[in-house]
Amino acid sequence: MITVIDGPAGSGKSSTARAVADRLEIEYLDSGALYRAITLLYLQAHRNETAFFQLLQQKEISFCYRDRQFHIEIDGRPVTDRIRTPRVAEHVSKVAAMRDVRAFVNRLMREAVADGVYIAEGRDLGTAVFPDADLKFYMSADIKQRARRRYEERKPDNPDLTFEEVKQNIEQRDRKDSRRKTDPLKKAEDAIAIDTTNLSFEQQVDQICLHITNLMKS
Ligand code: DC
Repeated sequence: MITVIDGPAGSGKSSTARAVADRLEIEYLDSGALYRAITLLYLQAHRNETAFFQLLQQKEISFCYRDRQFHIEIDGRPVTDRIRTPRVAEHVSKVAAMRDVRAFVNRLMREAVADGVYIAEGRDLGTAVFPDADLKFYMSADIKQRARRRYEERKPDNPDLTFEEVKQNIEQRDRKDSRRKTDPLKKAEDAIAIDTTNLSFEQQVDQICLHITNLMKS
């Protein structure tokens, strides 16, 4: 069984999906983290696309959800701590827009969820990756609210960060994610829309858990 959550950066889908996974004791899959890990290979290849695709074919990428964290390894080496750097953030949209990269990540994800009960989050899961998902959600929130959440999350480790900088970065990523040709960010027609602007975190988690448990009972 698979539940998917799509939505723009900062809409709360990652923390919500993790909380749902913990409460219902199901598996969690973070597709953005896979694109970020693959971006490390792009940087390792010095942004040379031929060298990058060779590396991608040679390396083994594995992942699992454990201790409330989505862990990724490349050839058995943990890379989880390296995927949220500004350098990866700067290049990930470009890498995620490459058709062959998307095909690679989609195959990894489909193989992973073949067994078990999963909640997965990303941008195109309900539209392109799992069009037959058992449940689909599309989470959004207004830009100021999303920027505020990211700002508060990152400020403690980045004292010089400004709110305006975070807001501009999110606006830029929204534009890139929703305008790209291959599988852009879009609400699936059959996705349940959740606007989190005025919802508490608990309310978001409750709503999704309720849908999943109702479906599991039926
Ligand atoms: O959710 P995130 O910020 O970790 O995602 C990182 C990048 O990957 C973001 O620029 C959009 C892209 N992404 C994507 O194109 N498709 C997905 N299913 C998930 C993420």
